[in-house]
Amino acid sequence: MENKTYKDFWNSQASSPESAISAVDGSQSEDVVQHTGRWSAEQVRAALDIGPDDRVLELGCGIGRIGRELAPRCRSWTGVDISENMIAYAGQRMAGLDNVTFHQLQRSSLEMLEDDSIDKAYSIAVFCHMDKEDLYLYMQELNRVVRPGGAIFVETWNLAHPIGWRRWAYEPLVWSRADQGQRKDVARNQFCTAEEFELYVSYAGFEPLANFNESQSVQIVAGKALEPAQRAAWLSHIEKNREAIAYSPLYAELFAQSVDVLFGKLPPGDMLAYIDSLGDAEEAALYRPYLLSLWSKNANIWGPVPT
Ligand SMILES: C[S@@+](CC[C@H](N)C(=O)[O-])C[C@H]1O[C@@H](n2cnc3c(N)ncnc32)[C@H](O)[C@@H]1O
Repeated sequence: MENKTYKDFWNSQASSPESAISAVDGSQSEDVVQHTGRWSAEQVRAALDIGPDDRVLELGCGIGRIGRELAPRCRSWTGVDISENMIAYAGQRMAGLDNVTFHQLQRSSLEMLEDDSIDKAYSIAVFCHMDKEDLYLYMQELNRVVRPGGAIFVETWNLAHPIGWRRWAYEPLVWSRADQGQRKDVARNQFCTAEEFELYVSYAGFEPLANFNESQSVQIVAGKALEPAQRAAWLSHIEKNREAIAYSPLYAELFAQSVDVLFGKLPPGDMLAYIDSLGDAEEAALYRPYLLSLWSKNANIWGPVPT
């Protein structure tokens, strides 16, 4: 069946626990999703300086991959998502946490949340799956619900970086082979330049504090209605945490290789050998299970997964 809405698409992606995990981090295992969740949560924590007094919002929370790891470290955590299936699994995975609230979204609006009710908000791997009109509507809503002095951490695919462009180039290739009598996949990967993404953030009312774009992703930290002392504190915090926030060159290189594997340009065994040559680099620990999971899904083409 053709998926006509974001909700239909993501509900179908989350039709089982395994497929929901696969949709959020490409793996098929709870152990792996907890590992990638801890890694991403650390990135968000570093960007937003999340602490025990913070009321935190995640837009597009999926199965709570990140929220499960962050909620124990903040005052309250709210997860919103267009897919009730994703939220149902998130609820199961975060059942032991008593400071957690979920809302299923019906449209590109956070109407269930009050003005200025959130200290810090983030959205990872979500804006890259929606049209720019929805992106901007959500950005405006984030600006409404975040309190003055608060901040957001948002990201999308980076069209202007060579690795981002390399990933984007597959989109027209896939479309050139598709049935063009159908509308394009509603949740297909979409891209911004760093300047474009910053425009949406700025016009929505935020003050950009950092724009990291030396990788496949554009990542922006931005504040709302900052007093001079608040701005200075945010800038100092970001400066001290740059390395923990931005994707590393090795992460970007492995991302590029994984894209080439996915599209048949690089044998998966070559990428696995490269990963194994990296020793105990954190990036290798992130990409190894992802590659093996990808391989198991494509074993009919690539041959059996090495043991
Ligand atoms: C790739 S997953 C990422 C989930 C989570 N942020 C993470 O990093 O694990 C994308 C999530 O965004 C949600 N999503 C996609 N389009 C959306 C929209 N228009 N409004 C709200 N949520 C959306 C999906 O349901 C899905 O849970």
